[in-house]
This record gives sequence, C-alpha cells and structure tokens, in this order.
Amino acid sequence: MAKGIVIYYSRSGNTKEMAEIVAGAMNEAGLATECKSVEKVKAEDLLKYDAIVVGSPTYYGSMAGPIKQLFDDAVSYHGRLDGKTGMAFSSAANIGGGNETTIMGIIEGMLISGMVVQGDPEGDHYGPVSIGKPDDRVKRQCVRRGRRIAELTQKLAG
Ligand SMILES: Cc1cc2nc3c(=O)[nH]c(=O)nc-3n(C[C@H](O)[C@H](O)[C@H](O)COP(=O)(O)O)c2cc1C
Repeated sequence: MAKGIVIYYSRSGNTKEMAEIVAGAMNEAGLATECKSVEKVKAEDLLKYDAIVVGSPTYYGSMAGPIKQLFDDAVSYHGRLDGKTGMAFSSAANIGGGNETTIMGIIEGMLISGMVVQGDPEGDHYGPVSIGKPDDRVKRQCVRRGRRIAELTQKLAG
C-alpha cells in the first residue's frame, strides 16, 4: 500500500500547524501518512515513502537550514526518489517575504531527485503559503493540497 510523509521544520509552530493539516487531509484521502519534524527524519527514511511533502518556514527567502541539510544528505540516495510524488509549503512573516521562492527551492530539490510535483490551477499554485499563523484560507489550501497529492500518489501507485 502506498505511504506518505509530511516533513517540516518549525520554531514557532506555524509550519507545524500547516504540516498537521496536510497530513490529516492525506490520511483522510486514503494515503497512510506520517507527520514528522525534520529532526526525526534521516535521508535514508525517504526511501520508504511514495509521497514526500516538505514544509519550511521562509528564512531569507529560502528553506530553513535543517530542510536543506536533509536534501544535501539525500545525495547518498540520488536517483532512488525517482517517480515519488512531492509537494512543498511555507510559512513566512510577510506578503512578498519570499514564501514562493522558498517553495520553489524545495521543488527544485524534488525535481532534481526525479520526483513528480503537481501544480494547482485554482489553489495556491506552487504550494500552500501562510503569512504567520495559518488562517482559514490557508487551512483550506492545506486540505486541498493534501487531498490532491494523496489522490495523485494513489493513481501512480496503480
Ligand atoms: C532566521 C529567520 C529568517 C526569516 N526570514 C524571513 C524572510 O525572509 N521573509 C519572511 O517573510 N519571513 C521571514 N522570517 C519569519 C518566518 O518565516 C515566520 O515567522 C514563519 O511563520 C515562522 O514559521 P514557524 O512558526 O514554523 O517557525 C524569518 C524568521 C527567521 C527566524
């Protein structure tokens, strides 16, 4: 059976809250999904999952160091994430504060790994973004995106 993981880094809880909502929606859509802080994930763990979702606060318009470290460590398994599905989300302090560049940085790492990343023509296009604590709009985006990656992953898993 296909499995997913939502990996996040969070100091003040905003990204963690988004992660829990995304993981909840993935589980509700039928994809057994764990939700873990990046400190509890090793690069080799990534091999076990069909869907890998990564959430980071926006730090200087980019992903936080521990998330980047996970990607850097994953070079030991380069090529073995090929064909898995991916999705990214971010929390920032400000509109225009770089949350979409943060998401794109994560997606770049996923694409270089051969992962399949689905955009969204109607919701937040690159991935859910929050300004500070997730409000109702952000929560809806997290649910929508969690459901979409669960459905895509199950479709690909056949
Ligand atoms: C080191 C550092 C760098 C940050 N850089 C940015 C930034 O470039 N743009 C922005 O809008 N917010 C920035 N922030 C604010 C965080 O992205 C924001 O508070 C976020 O919601 C924190 O998420 P968390 O609650 O999951 O830790 C920065 C915060 C820290 C600690």
